[in-house]
Amino acid sequence: MSESLRLGPLRCLNGSLRVPGDKSISHRALLLAALAEGESRIRSLAPGEDTRSTRRCLEALGVPIRDEGDEVIVEGRGWSALDRNPAAEPLVLDCGNSGTTARLLLGVLAGRRGRFRLTGDASLSGRPMARVIEPLVEMGARIESSGTLPATVEGRPLRGVTIETRVASAQLKSALLLAALQAQGESQIGEARLSRDHTERMLVALGAPVERSTGNALTWRVQGSSSPLRPACFAVPGDPSSAACALALALSKPGSDLQVQGICVNETRIGFLRLLERMGATCKFLEIVDEVEATGTLQASGSVLSGIDIGPEEVVAAIDELPLIACVGAIARAETRIRGAGELRYKESDRIAAVVALLRAFGVRVDEYPDGLCVHAAARLQGARVDARGDHRIAMCAAFLAAHAEGESELSGHEWVRISYPEFFADLERLGK
Ligand code: S3P
Repeated sequence: MSESLRLGPLRCLNGSLRVPGDKSISHRALLLAALAEGESRIRSLAPGEDTRSTRRCLEALGVPIRDEGDEVIVEGRGWSALDRNPAAEPLVLDCGNSGTTARLLLGVLAGRRGRFRLTGDASLSGRPMARVIEPLVEMGARIESSGTLPATVEGRPLRGVTIETRVASAQLKSALLLAALQAQGESQIGEARLSRDHTERMLVALGAPVERSTGNALTWRVQGSSSPLRPACFAVPGDPSSAACALALALSKPGSDLQVQGICVNETRIGFLRLLERMGATCKFLEIVDEVEATGTLQASGSVLSGIDIGPEEVVAAIDELPLIACVGAIARAETRIRGAGELRYKESDRIAAVVALLRAFGVRVDEYPDGLCVHAAARLQGARVDARGDHRIAMCAAFLAAHAEGESELSGHEWVRISYPEFFADLERLGK
């Protein structure tokens, strides 16, 4: 374990920032490029460990992937190139810390020939997989698991289904879309609330037989039979989740002026900005270009913010940033209440418990609920000694609180930012004053 990191208060944030490529889009670009027929090029792939887990698994499956300057080149050879001899020992695929790797691969491998054993680190091995496995089994998949990893997939021919996912989860929806593309006949995959829609956008761009249902915009009709996907050039936009902490700091510290360039502003990802705007923040959207994904520049200047009530309908588009919003609540006027966010308990850590502990360490009064929390704004935060609990996003929340605190803070487990944004602390130090 490395030494803890000392973090001092910051007066404001100024300058310009480019964050690494979006993690969700990067996973999908690698996976879909591997399934396509021909050479795909991916620019600005996310540099963190999670995306490396997807790359490593695809390489273990025999997909040639190489670096060329700032591009990653994937030699896709179609769906069937992932097939293996079903009599061979299961191929072990280590998904590391990455839920997206594990869940999307479950959807792909459920329909391929051969046996595959998906494993993960301690955190990933505690996260729920039954939500993906059960509908895949309904499609005819054979998966051995006790509801978490490890899971052994024995690929089978799949049948088309009509399903509405029981949780609004983009990983689950994506796994089912990828399985449905290989199934016999048509499937209809729907969700009650729109989760991040990168998979659908990319599948349309690659010519996959998917279209939005005419009766329901949240349902996709998918034609099976493993139709070929076109290779493509992907330019991965900056990750809004990686930019969230710097943006929240700039928006909450009067005197700040921060520009974040080349960032993904897909509405299914920037729920946290909409929440910050409701809290009184001023963020301008500039030079937006809407291709497969909307990308642009965000200009953030500081204001004094107010607490808000956040209900279930606002949770999905802000899911990864809700712990950060709870931290903003600590320095806003009045209370911030988040409800309907029970999913936070199943992330890289139990993020409700983790953020409650973090806030209390900084001297903030918090009420914890099974599905959320209520943060009582504090007159001042006191520097604290805290731990990231093995969770990159909790490490970033600690940096936000330390920047607003009086005196020095100490963070252990700061190195977990390597999962999504290895240069996080260096960038914050450069922008902060
Ligand atoms: C992700 C979906 C979300 C999110 C995760 C990335 C994705 O998870 O929390 O960080 O890339 O599809 P769920 O699908 O579990 O909501």
